[in-house]
This record gives sequence, structure tokens and C-alpha cells, in this order.
Amino acid sequence: MERCVSVRGLCLALLLGLGFMQSEAFEVEIKNSSDHTCIHASLMVNFTVTYEITNSSKNASFSAPDTVTTNGSSCGNDSSPPLLWVNFGNGHSWSLNFTKTNITYRGDVLTFTYNLSDTTYFKDALKGGLVSSTTKFLDPVPLNSTFRCVSDETLISENVTQLIWNVTLQAFIQDDTFGQEFVCDADKPATTTQVTPNVTTPTPTPKPVDKPSIGNYSASNSTGKCLLASMGLQVNVSLTVEGKNVSILFNINPDTTNSSGRCGNETATLSINDTKIRMDFDFEMKKNNFHLDKLAITLDTDSGRLYRIIQNLTLWEASLESSYLCRKEQTISVSEDLQVNTFDVRVQPFGVHNETYGTAYECSLDDDSLLIPIIVGAALACLIFFIVITYLIGRRKNYVGYQTL
Ligand SMILES: *[C@@H]1O[C@H](CO)[C@@H](O)[C@H](O)[C@H]1NC(C)=O
Ligand SMILES: *[C@@H]1O[C@H](CO)[C@@H](O)[C@H](O)[C@H]1NC(C)=O
Ligand SMILES: *[C@@H]1O[C@H](CO)[C@@H](O)[C@H](O)[C@H]1NC(C)=O
Ligand SMILES: *[C@@H]1O[C@H](CO)[C@@H](O)[C@H](O)[C@H]1NC(C)=O
Ligand SMILES: *[C@@H]1O[C@H](CO)[C@@H](O)[C@H](O)[C@H]1NC(C)=O
Ligand SMILES: *[C@@H]1O[C@H](CO)[C@@H](O)[C@H](O)[C@H]1NC(C)=O
Ligand SMILES: *[C@@H]1O[C@H](CO)[C@@H](O)[C@H](O)[C@H]1NC(C)=O
Ligand SMILES: *[C@@H]1O[C@H](CO)[C@@H](O)[C@H](O)[C@H]1NC(C)=O
Ligand SMILES: *[C@@H]1O[C@H](CO)[C@@H](O)[C@H](O)[C@H]1NC(C)=O
Ligand SMILES: *[C@@H]1O[C@H](CO)[C@@H](O)[C@H](O)[C@H]1NC(C)=O
Ligand SMILES: *[C@@H]1O[C@H](CO)[C@@H](O)[C@H](O)[C@H]1NC(C)=O
Ligand SMILES: *[C@@H]1O[C@H](CO)[C@@H](O)[C@H](O)[C@H]1NC(C)=O
Repeated sequence: MERCVSVRGLCLALLLGLGFMQSEAFEVEIKNSSDHTCIHASLMVNFTVTYEITNSSKNASFSAPDTVTTNGSSCGNDSSPPLLWVNFGNGHSWSLNFTKTNITYRGDVLTFTYNLSDTTYFKDALKGGLVSSTTKFLDPVPLNSTFRCVSDETLISENVTQLIWNVTLQAFIQDDTFGQEFVCDADKPATTTQVTPNVTTPTPTPKPVDKPSIGNYSASNSTGKCLLASMGLQVNVSLTVEGKNVSILFNINPDTTNSSGRCGNETATLSINDTKIRMDFDFEMKKNNFHLDKLAITLDTDSGRLYRIIQNLTLWEASLESSYLCRKEQTISVSEDLQVNTFDVRVQPFGVHNETYGTAYECSLDDDSLLIPIIVGAALACLIFFIVITYLIGRRKNYVGYQTL
């Protein structure tokens, strides 16, 4: 450190050198026969591979190095898709092929092939040879745009976990021109930095739209439904149409939606998808209590796609193995221009057994309905008590008066 302070040039060189060693990223460019670039990719991957040793199994963890070769890659043609094929180390390879529509492109199959005979990574492996594992990578990206994602993404397949981050990738490059950046959702700053959610009971003004019908939603894993939810959903969005601000209130029709999601030990996601709108509810488990942590809305409007997200919510809390229940209307302000109203919510994101809800924890809003009769009752009791006391005192006074007479 002292040397760094005294010799600034050297310090900078040392820091750069260190940074280079720690974060190994490979950067490759694939060209066609006429020397035009069709794929450009720069990214970092960490692999964790479970492999067999005598009577047991072991994990190998390693990163893709910065020196790789691209033998096997191709720009594709009418009958075969573009293929990015990255070789590294002693016989390992990472490959991804792409498909496109007239407006987007995406990754199709990501194949990671590892060589169990490589003893630098797979010490004491029972069997040698090449093993391949496949998974999906890269959701649709607009054509002529570069996908950019600094945030990490975990891809899991049997025996292999890949952690991919700091990705810059474009396929179907035309005229050697890199397009505008298309930033992944995970990198987008939350549009609202509101920490305490704005949950209000709306004023009972008549609404132009009826109460939404209650939909049943779920997510499944290999053993069946692992996340259950039922609720009515209403969306209130402010849009600028022809220079004018308009507010639109509409209901989600359960008949035209489908739901899916993902269950985990600590996080779970419920995605509700209609033709024009998609809602992603992220639940988190903390100290045996779950809550709704994040709500992301993707809305397709005539003037484009709207993406709004609110994080760090602490709504819909209940304990593990139980469900959250709230009959009253609740409003989640996702952003200034978008609110979601929920009706008759029942949700259980963790510990679902036999595809049925656990014990229901009712929300405090529902408890309010009990509180009012209690308060009224208590007030009445007080009143009666005072009347009785006043009456008794009055009677005693009368008594006394009588005696003196
Ligand atoms: C995963 O590893 C196990 C042994 O650890 C092996 O039996 C199995 O075939 C592997 N699966 C794949 C897809 O390689
Ligand atoms: C990737 O793996 C390397 C070691 O191979 C480790 O130093 C680094 O922290 C890992 N990066 C992430 C983001 O996990
Ligand atoms: C894309 O192709 C479909 C038919 O395959 C067509 O209906 C649509 O208009 C095309 N979109 C654009 C932007 O060209
Ligand atoms: C992509 O760029 C090429 C040439 O630069 C152009 O012909 C094509 O229409 C563009 N496609 C889209 C969807 O913007
Ligand atoms: C991508 O490769 C996988 C296997 O390597 C193959 O099954 C798939 O059909 C390929 N995709 C396209 C669009 O050809
Ligand atoms: C991400 O990759 C770029 C090169 O594309 C590199 O300059 C930068 O240091 C990397 N960032 C991290 C956090 O690894
Ligand atoms: C959410 O909370 C985490 C820590 O609990 C914090 O790092 C993060 O910045 C918060 N995000 C927002 C959008 O407030
Ligand atoms: C909560 O919502 C009310 C009414 O919609 C608004 O007046 C208030 O400013 C909001 N509070 C926050 C913290 O956003
Ligand atoms: C599926 O989800 C249920 C409920 O959360 C859990 O008990 C079960 O272990 C999960 N199954 C798998 C294969 O992950
Ligand atoms: C989830 O919990 C189960 C049992 O506690 C454990 O076997 C499993 O490895 C956990 N899964 C993850 C992804 O942490
Ligand atoms: C909803 O799902 C359909 C098919 O599963 C998909 O084509 C569509 O893009 C999805 N909509 C959104 C907004 O994600
Ligand atoms: C699961 O639910 C079904 C129908 O609700 C019921 O018949 C069955 O007995 C339940 N099984 C267990 C193990 O609770």
C-alpha cells in the first residue's frame, strides 16, 4: 500500500494487473467468410460441476478463462443457425446457438461440455471423458441491439451450475454495426425507491369498473403445485395519449391469463401473464416468515412497453407452511403512474402440501372490521357504567336529602 501512495504510476499498474487476474472475462468475435462480424460476445462464467469419485461425489468450481478459442463457431445460413462455440482448457467447451424472428433474436440451447479426464479441475474423477449439459440462455432481444447485463444470472442443469455475469452479447450483427444497448431487467434501477409501501384503503368512490373476478393461480415443480394463489387483480395506469394524461383502470380477466413460476427454499416467484400484461410477484422467506418482496409489471401499450418494479416490499406476511389471507381491497403503488389493486388475496408461496393451502393468517386490514365493533362495544360499556354510577350517586344524594327533611 505504501508503495502505491509513493509511486502512483506503479500503483495503477498493480491495481489494473490485479483486477485483470481476478475477473477473467472472455471476449470473442465471430466472422463470416467475407470477414464480416456476425456475433460478438464478452462475458464471465463460473462453473460448479458435481462429479463422481469412488463411493461419493465431489464439486469442481472453476471459471472460464480469458484465453479461449472459437473453433466450431459459425455465422450460420438459411438451414443452420448462428453458433457461438467457445473452447477452453483441456477439452472443455461452452456453446450457444441463436434463433431470430423479424424483430428479435434469442439464445436457443446453451451446451456446456466438460472433460472429466482433465485432472486440474476433476481430481479423482471415477470416469473420464466428455459430458454435456444443456440449458437455456438469453431471452429475446430486439434485433440490431446489444444485450447487456452486469448482474449475474444462475443457470442450473443436472450436475452443473453456471453463474454468468457482465455479459455483452449480440448475434445477427449486420453491417459490422453494434446496436443500441438492451439492458437486462436485473440491471434496471428500480423505478421507485420507496421503502415503505403505500398501502391504503381507497376511498369508497364509485368505480367505473366492477370488482375483478377472482382467479386461481399457481406455480408447479416436479412434484406438483408448490405455490398457490387466488385473488382479483385490477390495474390503474396513467398514460400519455396524444399529449394528454389519461388514467386507465382495468381488471385482469382470469380466463385469459395463465400463471407460472418458480419455487425455492428462500425465494419464490409467481408470474401472471395476460396478452398485454405480465405481473411477477417475488416472495422471500426470512426467519420462517414469508412476505411479498417485489412486484414487477410489464405492460404492452400502443406506444410501447412499460416496465415498472417496486422492491423491498413487506406485504402479505405470514409464517412458513401457512397462507396469507386478505379479503379487503389493497393498493400497491408500484410507481407514480401504476397501481395494482388486489381483492380477496389468498397466497401461499412456500411449504405447500398436497396442493392445498395451510392455515390462513388474516391481514390486519381484515382485523379492523373486528376492531370497530370492539371499540363501539367498549364505549357502550363505559357509557352504561357511567349511567349506573351517576344514578347511584344521584340516589344516595336523594336519600341524604330525604333524611334531613
Ligand atoms: C450426474 O452425476 C451423476 C453422478 O454424480 C451421474 O450418475 C449422472 O449421469 C450425471 N448426469 C448427467 C446428465 O451427466
Ligand atoms: C468465480 O469463481 C472465482 C474462482 O474460480 C471466484 O474467485 C469468484 O469470486 C467467483 N465469482 C463469483 C461472482 O462468484
Ligand atoms: C413479422 O412477421 C409477421 C409474420 O410472420 C408479421 O405479421 C409482422 O407484421 C412482422 N413484423 C414486422 C415488424 O415486420
Ligand atoms: C437491422 O439493421 C439492418 C441493417 O443495418 C436493417 O436492414 C434491418 O431492418 C434492421 N432490423 C431491425 C428490426 O431494426
Ligand atoms: C441449437 O442446438 C441444439 C442442440 O445443440 C439443437 O437441438 C437445436 O435445434 C439448435 N437450434 C436451432 C435453432 O437449430
Ligand atoms: C465487465 O466486462 C468489461 C469488458 O466487457 C470489463 O472492462 C469490466 O471490468 C468487467 N466488469 C466486471 C465487474 O467484471
Ligand atoms: C432493498 O434492500 C437492500 C438491503 O436490504 C438494499 O441493498 C437495496 O438497495 C434496497 N433496494 C431498494 C430499491 O430500496
Ligand atoms: C400514498 O398514496 C397517497 C394517495 O394515493 C399519496 O397522497 C401519498 O403521497 C402516498 N405516499 C407515498 C409515501 O408515496
Ligand atoms: C416442490 O415443492 C414442494 C412444496 O414447496 C416441496 O415440498 C418439494 O420438495 C418440491 N419438490 C422438488 C422436487 O423440488
Ligand atoms: C432446499 O432445502 C432442502 C431441504 O432443507 C435441501 O435439501 C435443498 O438442497 C435446498 N435447496 C436449495 C437450492 O438450497
Ligand atoms: C405471455 O405468455 C405468452 C405465451 O406464453 C407469451 O407469448 C407472451 O409474450 C407473454 N406475455 C408477456 C407480456 O410476457
Ligand atoms: C390430498 O388431498 C386429497 C383431496 O383433497 C385427499 O383425498 C387426500 O387424502 C389428501 N392426501 C393427504 C396425504 O393429505
